[in-house]
Amino acid sequence: MKILYVTSEAVPFCKTGGLADVAGSLPPALAEQGAEVAVVLPLYQRIRDRFGSQLKFECYDYVDLAWRHSYCGLFSMEKDGVTWYFLDNEQYFNRASLYGQVDDGERFAFFSRAVVRMLDHFRFWPEVVHCNDWQSALVPIYLKDDGVREDRYRSIKTVVTIHNIEYQGRYNPYVLGDLFGLDAGWAKDGTLLMDGDANLLKGAILCADAVNAVSPTYANELKMPYFAHRMEGIMRRCSDKLYGVLNGIDMKLYDPRTDRRILKNFSAEDMSGKDDCKAELQRMVGLREEAHTPIVAMVSRLVSHKGLDLICEVLHDMMELPIQLVVLGTGDQRYEEFFHWAAQQYPGRMSVRMDYNEDLSMAIYAGADLFLMPSKSEPCGLSQMIAMRYGTVPIVRETGGLKDTVQPCESWRDAGNGFSFTNYSSGDMLHVIREAVYLYKDYPDVFGRLRQRAMAGDFSWARSAREYLRIYATITGQTWPIPNDTRRAAEAPEGETTPAEKAVPVTEAAPVEEAAPVIEAAPVVEAAPVEEAAPVVEAAPVEEAAPVVETTSVEAAAPVEETVPVTAPAEEKKTRKTSAKTTAKAAKAAKKTEKKTSAKKGTAGKKKSAE
Ligand code: GLC
Repeated sequence: MKILYVTSEAVPFCKTGGLADVAGSLPPALAEQGAEVAVVLPLYQRIRDRFGSQLKFECYDYVDLAWRHSYCGLFSMEKDGVTWYFLDNEQYFNRASLYGQVDDGERFAFFSRAVVRMLDHFRFWPEVVHCNDWQSALVPIYLKDDGVREDRYRSIKTVVTIHNIEYQGRYNPYVLGDLFGLDAGWAKDGTLLMDGDANLLKGAILCADAVNAVSPTYANELKMPYFAHRMEGIMRRCSDKLYGVLNGIDMKLYDPRTDRRILKNFSAEDMSGKDDCKAELQRMVGLREEAHTPIVAMVSRLVSHKGLDLICEVLHDMMELPIQLVVLGTGDQRYEEFFHWAAQQYPGRMSVRMDYNEDLSMAIYAGADLFLMPSKSEPCGLSQMIAMRYGTVPIVRETGGLKDTVQPCESWRDAGNGFSFTNYSSGDMLHVIREAVYLYKDYPDVFGRLRQRAMAGDFSWARSAREYLRIYATITGQTWPIPNDTRRAAEAPEGETTPAEKAVPVTEAAPVEEAAPVIEAAPVVEAAPVEEAAPVVEAAPVEEAAPVVETTSVEAAAPVEETVPVTAPAEEKKTRKTSAKTTAKAAKAAKKTEKKTSAKKGTAGKKKSAE
């Protein structure tokens, strides 16, 4: 199978977020499974500076986009069984930062147009083009547009992966012709038009043969207004081609047994090195050197959807527990100021570093005991998986990939690999932090086994790559010898593979493998946690002008999709109530909270039926 992976960033070349990690790891994992893979990304200044000497110049051509006729150079590099292509145009990409420029729309329209234009020069004609987020959302649209005129474009199937639906690429529809070189029909027929804007991600979702979210739970959440940033109707309409494939992490890079970035190596069998890492972390960040005080850590961008408001609300209650707290990250000024101020109140017990620092982040993953991620929404999240790998037990809110990777601890039957809470509520968060801390302090054996289960998780890319290949096989109608799951692969006699399985969109059955838990039908409580106000519609990006045209398109006039019912498996929900029934204290507290929550749920239910 020939796959072209289109991305606006990839490790090790350039990175602003999790997309880069995915784009750096998934293509080699696909290649390892036998696919032919090429990746294409812009040749930014930083790539030219750091990797320029290793790049091979292939050729150049010209890209026609609206009235512009622009140069496009093609460079390449072979690495990890994948051909990495870089598209060169200095006017658009020879700049210090990747995004956030006034002409981002024009830059990524050029990139997307150039990808389609340069197909002739790549080492193969792809069967599947896999795009990511709004920056390459125009690619499936251009392929459809060109497909009208030329047969060969129609042979290409497209997949679009949504890493974060918040960013959609919204523009004034008047620029469709001038900026994107598209006919007004693309807006008039409703494909691109949404809330008065030309919305690139919406267009890609409608045009692509498969749409993928980065975790099964996020795929379901995208059908709910609370998570979908106005796209819930479109997502529901496309649910027959919607998949949720959980990201992986680089299990070799993040391996506590061999990682050279940490002070001492350790493994689930011999954790002594972790004690040294903990002492080292305490020294590094100025915490008291106390071996038996659990360190709670956060490595995060300091932005609101990471759930920082919950921490602001109960920080002092948290600090009444026998813990140390370390926070690493940069972000919104209000959070930076808050954490800076808070750290001053707890010298020796709380440490904050406003920084993006790879070495320190590794020291934290290796040295901390608990990893806090109370995100309001989290499409997948990678750091909870990294933390688990290093025996740092996660405490998360049950959303997106956090819900899919962390199963709450049930110490009475030695199950689970972390702690979790359902509602976006600081009280609930505090309750599970307390449970975790007392489990650590009072029942070190039980905590030790929990830690081992966390470390044993399989977050390898191989598993996700197989799921992607199954999607590619489904949309291209090919047979691809992919084992249904690793269990079955292990049972199969050597050398024998099971026939290709048809990938199943998340609306039907969940493509579950190994540790990935079964996807629940979208629970209503998650759609609108009681404590939260209705989500605010995102402000339009700077490049956008106010929506001027009123439209009569289906989406704008009547959001019919809204009526699609969302099932609420109440039973299932109950069983997922938060975790460890360990100490009598914790059990008592759990009862109290449960009472409170069910009272709240009752009220919420009433409100709903009143509506
Ligand atoms: C985005 C999401 C994050 C996800 C990453 C990779 O950054 O916010 O949750 O892990 O993309 O898909």
